[in-house]
Amino acid sequence: MEKMLENIGKEIELKGWLHGIRGSNKFQFLTFRTSGQLIQVIAEKEILGEEVFKIVKSLTQETSISIKGIILANEKANLGWEIQLRQIEIISPSSDYPITPKEHGTDFLFSHRHLWLRSKKQLVILRVRSELSFQIRNFFHQKKYTNIDTPILTGSVGESAGTLFSTDYFDLGKAYLAQTGQLYLETAIFAHEKVYCFGPTFRAEKSKTRRHLTEFWMVEAETAFLENEQNIQFQDEFVRTVVQKTVEACKLDLEILERDTTKLLSQVATAFQVIDYSNAIEHLKSSGFSIEWGEDINAEGENILTEKLGGAIFIKNYPRAIKAFYMKQNPNDQKTVLCSDLIAPDGVGEIIGGSEREVDFDKIVARIQEEDLPLEGYSWYLDLRKYGSVPHSGWGLGLERLVAWVCGLPHVRECIPFPRMMYRIFP
Ligand code: 4AD
Ligand code: MG
Repeated sequence: MEKMLENIGKEIELKGWLHGIRGSNKFQFLTFRTSGQLIQVIAEKEILGEEVFKIVKSLTQETSISIKGIILANEKANLGWEIQLRQIEIISPSSDYPITPKEHGTDFLFSHRHLWLRSKKQLVILRVRSELSFQIRNFFHQKKYTNIDTPILTGSVGESAGTLFSTDYFDLGKAYLAQTGQLYLETAIFAHEKVYCFGPTFRAEKSKTRRHLTEFWMVEAETAFLENEQNIQFQDEFVRTVVQKTVEACKLDLEILERDTTKLLSQVATAFQVIDYSNAIEHLKSSGFSIEWGEDINAEGENILTEKLGGAIFIKNYPRAIKAFYMKQNPNDQKTVLCSDLIAPDGVGEIIGGSEREVDFDKIVARIQEEDLPLEGYSWYLDLRKYGSVPHSGWGLGLERLVAWVCGLPHVRECIPFPRMMYRIFP
């Protein structure tokens, strides 16, 4: 499609769908959708003749059609060119398409998600998501990370017992849907040192927030011989690179979404700030936000911090009691762990959780017991601390939250083709 301006005057044949139509008794302007692009097609009675023009005029939204026409330059058309229709063939009709150009309620649209995917804004969002996925894999490929596909059905609790989906697993009791691939990635560093996984993860979150899905895609990295500070630098490079490359590749798509890309690019131009959890609490208190050391920072608190500090921030060294069992205790402050959350601006909030991993066998066993997790499920994981254990760190980024940030969307539910939420399992 990019090369069309070099082909002005030439004939073209395309298959696609009638996205929209308007016009008069002499001209009809068709919006034609092909390969996810919207193209203006002009149908002129004088050129087509009475009979064909009548067929064109009676076309209904989402009819699949095959068209032949001439490429014409037109500065006013969205792509700078359009097609003058010469021939048309109906592939399959479409009557009473439920999503019309009028305004529809959110619930209606999500109930028709299988059709809503065809809408302009929605198809653009999923193209940006696709580009981000590509850039993510590309980044790791360039850095010579090995892709390890971790299981979705698991026997051990990955993150926390509170948000597990479980299912009966033959004669072996319960299996859980993976909340993370991390524990399995940790096994793989001993073979490959630098590994990543990228796939669906599941959390039975009983929250109806703008940031939570029950099924979301997470990209996770795990690196041998890496300490928490280096792990933070790695995340910084990763996020800034994939966002920059995606903005570059999706300029037109982001324009359609009216995303201020100058602002977005300036947000990822230089390294993100890093502050201590204790520091973050002081900032929040001085802003009049009610919080005490030891409490988790909620969405509102995260927004205050990114606004006050003017961009994305890493918050590191959270209290041990509010973080997962596998995080390494801070040798300089036993109440905290060597971890970081990356908080994105524009109301998006936490996009990455990462940490150095606890390698002390007794400490990690104690933490598993403190969290009331069934120790017998972790014998394989604990083996990693017995046979050539090394310092290592990793992190996980939620793809939908990154899509929301890049696209400037207030809610993650439009950032995945078929969102799974507490109150939605169809379509
Ligand atoms: O902070 P979390 O829970 O970290 C982990 O799962 C680690 N095991 C990752 C690791 O170190 N390998 O989740 C990581 C990210 C969050 O920062 C957020 O972006 C996303 O996953 N996330 C969700 N996204 C959408 N809906 C939910 N319910 C999410 N829960 C987490
Ligand atoms: Mg987290």
